[in-house]
Amino acid sequence: MNAPIDITGIELRTERLLLRPWRESDLEDFYAYARVDGVGQMAGWTPHRSLDESREILKLFIADKKTFALEYRGRAVGSLGIEFYDETQFPELDALRGREIGYALNRDCWGQGLMPEAVRRVIGYLFDVVRLDFILVGHFEWNRQSARVIEKCGFAEVKTIPYRTRMGTLERSVEGILYNPVPGNRS
Ligand SMILES: CC(C)(COP(=O)(O)OP(=O)(O)OC[C@H]1O[C@@H](n2cnc3c(N)ncnc32)[C@H](O)[C@@H]1OP(=O)(O)O)[C@@H](O)C(=O)NCCC(=O)NCCS
Repeated sequence: MNAPIDITGIELRTERLLLRPWRESDLEDFYAYARVDGVGQMAGWTPHRSLDESREILKLFIADKKTFALEYRGRAVGSLGIEFYDETQFPELDALRGREIGYALNRDCWGQGLMPEAVRRVIGYLFDVVRLDFILVGHFEWNRQSARVIEKCGFAEVKTIPYRTRMGTLERSVEGILYNPVPGNRS
C-alpha cells in the first residue's frame, strides 16, 4: 500500500547535492530545465511552454510535500518525487508500506552521476527514517539513461506495466523494486 509522506523541513545532504523541498524562488531554475525538449518526455510530461506553466507545477510540488529539489552549486537542477504507485498493478505489496520514486535532471548536468547520488540518499531516508518496506521505480522501456540509474542504485526488475502519461500516450514501464534490508525497520 502507499504510505503517507511529508517532506516538510527535510534537508538531505550528499557529497555534491542538497535535497530539500521546492520553494517559490526556484521558479527560474525549474523553468530552465523543464522547458528543454527531450527531458520531460523521458518521464512522461511535455516540456513546459511558459514560466506560468512551471509556476503552476511548482505550486503543486510545494503543496503536495513529496517532491525534493536537487540543489547543486546554488541552483535547483532537478527534482525527485516520492510518488504514489499504482496499487492495482501490485496486489502482492498490499500488506507492505511503500512508494514509487520519479526524477528528472537539468540536461546540462547529465552524465555526472548526480541522480544516482540523489536516489541513494533518498533510499536511505525512506528506509531509515520513514521506514518504508519497499521502494518502486519505473522507466519507459526505451529510456536507457534512467535504466542505468536504477541499475546503479540496486533495484531488482520485477515486472513491466502499462503507464498512461500526462501527454496522453501509453507507455510500457519497467518496474524495479528495493526492499528495506533491515527487518526491524518493517512496521
Ligand atoms: C535519467 C537521468 C535523471 C539520469 O541522471 P544522471 O545524473 O545523468 O545519471 P548518470 O550520470 O548516472 O547517467 C546515466 C546514464 O545516462 C547516459 N548519459 C550520460 N550522459 C549523457 C548525456 N549527456 N546524454 C545522454 N545520455 C547520457 C549514460 O548511459 C549513463 O549511464 P553510464 O553511467 O552507465 O554511462 C537524466 O538522464 C534525466 O533527467 N533524463 C530525463 C528525465 C528522465 O528520464 N527521468 C526518469 C524517468 S523514469
